[in-house]
Amino acid sequence: MGDTVAVWAVVVAAGSGERLGADVPKAFVRFGEDPLIAASVAALDEHPGIDGIVLVVPAGWEERATFMADDIGASKASIAVAGGATRSDSVALGVAEVPPDAVLILVHDAARPLVPSDLVDRLLAGFGDGADGVIPALFVSDTVKRIDAAGRVLETLDRSELRLVQTPQAFQADVLRRALAAPDRSTGTDCASLVERVGGTVIVVPGDARALKITTRADLARAEELRADAH
Ligand code: CTP
Ligand code: MG
Repeated sequence: MGDTVAVWAVVVAAGSGERLGADVPKAFVRFGEDPLIAASVAALDEHPGIDGIVLVVPAGWEERATFMADDIGASKASIAVAGGATRSDSVALGVAEVPPDAVLILVHDAARPLVPSDLVDRLLAGFGDGADGVIPALFVSDTVKRIDAAGRVLETLDRSELRLVQTPQAFQADVLRRALAAPDRSTGTDCASLVERVGGTVIVVPGDARALKITTRADLARAEELRADAH
C-alpha cells in the first residue's frame, strides 16, 4: 500500500515520564546506546511503507530530537515540534505537521521502543476492507472484573471479547484529522477511541508482545531483554 499512497508516522514523545521518575523526559532516557525515542524512530524509518515521520517532543527538546534522528541516519524524520498538555494534544500538534497529501497516518508512542516490521505490515494490509483505522491488539490472558468504587465485584467480563491495544495505530488521514478536532479529545486515551467517537470503523490486527509500553524501570529492563533476544 505504501507504494501508491503517502504514509506518514507521528511519534509522540512529549510526556514527562513521571512514573519512570528519570531526570530527563521518558523518551530521552537511555535505551541501549541511544535515547529511548531512537529505537522506534529507527524502526519506522527503516520500514519501506513509511514516507515521513514527525516527532513530537517536550518544548525545548526539538533540536535534540532532530540531532538524534540525524545521528541514527533516520532521514525520514526531519520534523520535530513541541507537544501539548495531553497525549491527544500532542498527537494533534504532530498531525498538523503532516503534509496534506498523506493518505494514512500512523500514530506511535515513543514509550514503545520495539516496533516489529511485520506489525507495521499488518496495519497497512488491514486497510483493504475500507477501515478508517487499524490497530494492533493482544488477547487478554487474565480474568477481568468490573468493580464499584468500594472494590466490590460487579461482574466478570467475557475476556474473549476483550483486547489490549498497542501502537502504532494507523488511520485514514482525513478521519484522524476530523477525530482530533473534537473539543473533548483530551478524554481519549488512544487515537482509536477518538476515531470511534466520530463513527469511524476501527479493526484490530494481531499485536506483538515486544511492542510493550515503558512505564517503569522494570519495563525498560524487560524491553532491553526483548531487544537483545531479537538480535
Ligand atoms: N505523551 C505526549 N504528550 C503528553 C503526554 C504523553 O506526547 N502530553 C506521549 C508520551 O511521551 C508517550 C505516550 O504519549 O510516548 C504515552 O504516554 P505515557 O506512557 O503515559 O508517557 P508519559 O506521560 O511520559 O508518562 P507518565 O504518564 O508516567 O508521566
Ligand atoms: Mg502519561
